[in-house]
Amino acid sequence: MTNDIFEPKSIVVTGGCGFIGSNFVHHVVREHPGVKVTVLDKLTYAGNRENIAGLPADRVELVVGDICDRDLVNDLAASHDAIVHYAAESHNDNSIANPEPFLRTNVEGTYTLIEACRAHGTRYHHVSTDEVYGDLALDDPARFTEETPYRPSSPYSSTKAASDMLVRAWVRTFGLKATISNCSNNYGPYQHVEKFIPRQITNLIDGVRPKLYGDGKNVRDWIHTEDHSSAVWAILTKGRIGETYLIGADGERDNITVLREILKAFGRDADDFDWVRDRPGHDRRYAIDSSKLRRELGWEPAHTDFAAGLAETIAWYRDNEAWWRPAKEATEARYAAQGQ
Ligand code: NAD
Ligand code: TYD
Repeated sequence: MTNDIFEPKSIVVTGGCGFIGSNFVHHVVREHPGVKVTVLDKLTYAGNRENIAGLPADRVELVVGDICDRDLVNDLAASHDAIVHYAAESHNDNSIANPEPFLRTNVEGTYTLIEACRAHGTRYHHVSTDEVYGDLALDDPARFTEETPYRPSSPYSSTKAASDMLVRAWVRTFGLKATISNCSNNYGPYQHVEKFIPRQITNLIDGVRPKLYGDGKNVRDWIHTEDHSSAVWAILTKGRIGETYLIGADGERDNITVLREILKAFGRDADDFDWVRDRPGHDRRYAIDSSKLRRELGWEPAHTDFAAGLAETIAWYRDNEAWWRPAKEATEARYAAQGQ
């Protein structure tokens, strides 16, 4: 099958000051020299303009604003070839403490973006998560595919599922030129210290014991964020309109195994961590079958050595304490209040 190649000259990246969005902006600047990027980011607690600092001003412009701002989004959709939508409230534990911002940003924000893209015929790529499929049992031989029914468990994943449904409906009813990707858990530089891997690394730098939920056997399917970026670019430029592509790199590991790799890197004992209160509704296992993406678009992950990627990530947090330090104390205070 041959697909027409879409060659955007100007793209909007929503959430481009967050973890995965900013890694995508770096990727585009480095790999695709003809493309100009406008980052639309509200700079919530999770956004940091430092994430894209130092990129050439003639390639990257930051617009500080809300994806729910209809006039702003409309102007951006009219003046760019595509919108790649990363902005979200992204943390499960926060969604359990207070779901409201998740409804607004993840659902209303997506609605605002797709309405603007519909009005202007702008290409739209929707970045979503494998968590929309709920979870799998540890001994289930199955993995998620594009055909797996939606069964979200948390306020976070249910709002992401709702946003995916809006996009699908807009494609069918209004002919929106959209694609969707659902990716597994990312790791790499610029990830907020509230998330599992950076939280444990920065705890260890601070001489604090890491914190493990439940029985530590929950499985996540880890992918380096750089591989997520190359996959999104492949889908944006070569993906078939209206299609969903699952992104994953065969990286299934349980949490205690990941934690013990981090402890080892710090020369600490394998049991030198605290068991803490489990997350309510905690999904057991995620696992992605990404064969459609590989088969149709020829995508392959490049960072398949998890130990090497983790070592680089640990080195990044050691070298960039000034980046994460301002968020650490408040994040740990929030966790402590939740018994986590
Ligand atoms: P993040 O929390 O690190 O970053 C989110 C960014 O969105 C921040 O820069 C924030 O300021 C911005 N933002 C939030 N609300 C906004 C609003 N109303 N208007 C404009 N900007 C707003 O998130 P992340 O981990 O980088 O995730 C990015 C996307 O990837 C999300 O859509 C998430 O669902 C998806 N995803 C994440 C993972 C993961 O492992 N983290 C895996 C699969 C998919
Ligand atoms: P997280 O990074 O929050 O990602 P997600 O909820 O999207 O999978 O958590 C990854 C896994 O690590 C998840 O099973 C919850 C667990 N976890 C801990 O055991 N301890 C922690 O301190 C955190 C933040 C997460």
